[in-house]
Amino acid sequence: MQKLEINIAEPFRELLTVHKRYKLFYGGRAGGKSFAFADALLTLATSRKLLIACVREVQNSIKDSVYKLIADRIAYHNLNATYRLYDDKIVNLTNGSKFIFKGIMEHNAQNIKSLEGVNICWVEEAQKLSAHAWEILNPTIRHTGSEIWLSMNREEDMDPVWKALALKPDEDTLVRKVNFYDNPYCPLEMKKLALKTKAENFNEYLHIWEGEPRAESADNLIARADVYRAMNTVDVVVSGTSPLIMGVDVARFGDDKTAICLRAGREVKLLEAYAKLDVVNVAHLVAGMIAKYYPARVLIDVGGLGAGVYDVLSSDGFREILVPVNFGERAENAERFVNRRAEMWGRLKEWLQSPLPVKLPKVDGLAEDLTAPKFSFDSLGRLQLEAKAEIKKRLGRSTDFGDALALTFAFLHEEYLLKNLLGQRNREFISDDVFV
Ligand SMILES: Nc1ncnc2c1ncn2[C@@H]1O[C@H](COP(=O)(O)OP(=O)(O)OP(=O)(O)O)[C@@H](O)[C@H]1O
Ligand SMILES: [Mg+2]
Repeated sequence: MQKLEINIAEPFRELLTVHKRYKLFYGGRAGGKSFAFADALLTLATSRKLLIACVREVQNSIKDSVYKLIADRIAYHNLNATYRLYDDKIVNLTNGSKFIFKGIMEHNAQNIKSLEGVNICWVEEAQKLSAHAWEILNPTIRHTGSEIWLSMNREEDMDPVWKALALKPDEDTLVRKVNFYDNPYCPLEMKKLALKTKAENFNEYLHIWEGEPRAESADNLIARADVYRAMNTVDVVVSGTSPLIMGVDVARFGDDKTAICLRAGREVKLLEAYAKLDVVNVAHLVAGMIAKYYPARVLIDVGGLGAGVYDVLSSDGFREILVPVNFGERAENAERFVNRRAEMWGRLKEWLQSPLPVKLPKVDGLAEDLTAPKFSFDSLGRLQLEAKAEIKKRLGRSTDFGDALALTFAFLHEEYLLKNLLGQRNREFISDDVFV
């Protein structure tokens, strides 16, 4: 048996080292996705007999496929004696491995049938796959132990494959982001081009080079660029007098998560989500975190199950620092905002845009949460947010992280001062243009 020593770049090692039904690698241009996939497949096809399908939505001619790339890599690795290139397939003469190239939507029964024995299916440019093509492909790759590999540069927020696999990845799914700076072979020209775009048009850069979907439409409340900037803030000076505020967004539906956020002034110190906790468990979790971090205030969403959490914590002696928040209640500034929820999110937006840097942790799903809600104005000119149920329908999940963070903006500094709400801890602070 032939053994091939091809060096697969580090970010792509898992193509070879773990078994997953779905392996999705996404990112911007020149991340090394296509080369690494081709090399990893050649490594496998050289060591044992495999049927490998390289598919896309439509393949008018073999030129549309990755045939040429694989042929080039065969030549590059001096495997010309092992592989024979036919017009429409590539065959390993030693062990019988075969690469075939198909368009999914040229669907005659024969075409799809030919995919049933496939061990590994590579979907290149997976952002272009329609929901329909994915529905055909996924159950067709049915061989025991088969894997579907997907490489993509995200186009829209809700590319069908992204929605199916990456929004809520399960244990069968590997999702990895790889950009040009992760690619050890990235040509200098590409790096220069990326940095030029970054300087000239940051939104364009995020899409082309960082693998973010295209800039959102104008009716999204929070811009992706603002979130991205905050996630890449290296250090912020947090005024020692900015109180630590905890936001607790309690899961409303069975598949939602309970999210907890800790923020002090310009820095979000912690953001975590927990699945499948009942009211008492959430209360105990929050109590534990209060004991650990000593927040000045804990703001709890008391719509739905949160009311129960509030009650348990109150009777456990935390009433003094608890602040119940009802998303639907009247806003503090009722002329600008239709309700409390719109106001919290509006302040969160302003915080992200404040001239002084603010810092968010790089938590998976946070950017999606924050940029999800759309906004509009009611007949009185007040800001209103898209209904939670609508967002959930679109996104496939609730914006748990976003709501936990937004909760920390439910009240302003002044509120604490005027009402003397603060306890002994953090009694003094100066206004630094940052909400608490
Ligand atoms: N294993 C490798 N050996 C040599 N060069 C490589 C290797 N992997 C990547 N490169 C270089 O990096 C460039 C980008 O790689 P690749 O085309 O695989 O990226 P990609 O993520 O598929 O990008 P795109 O989205 O532009 O298709 C290649 O054109 C090549 O110059
Ligand atoms: Mg590519």
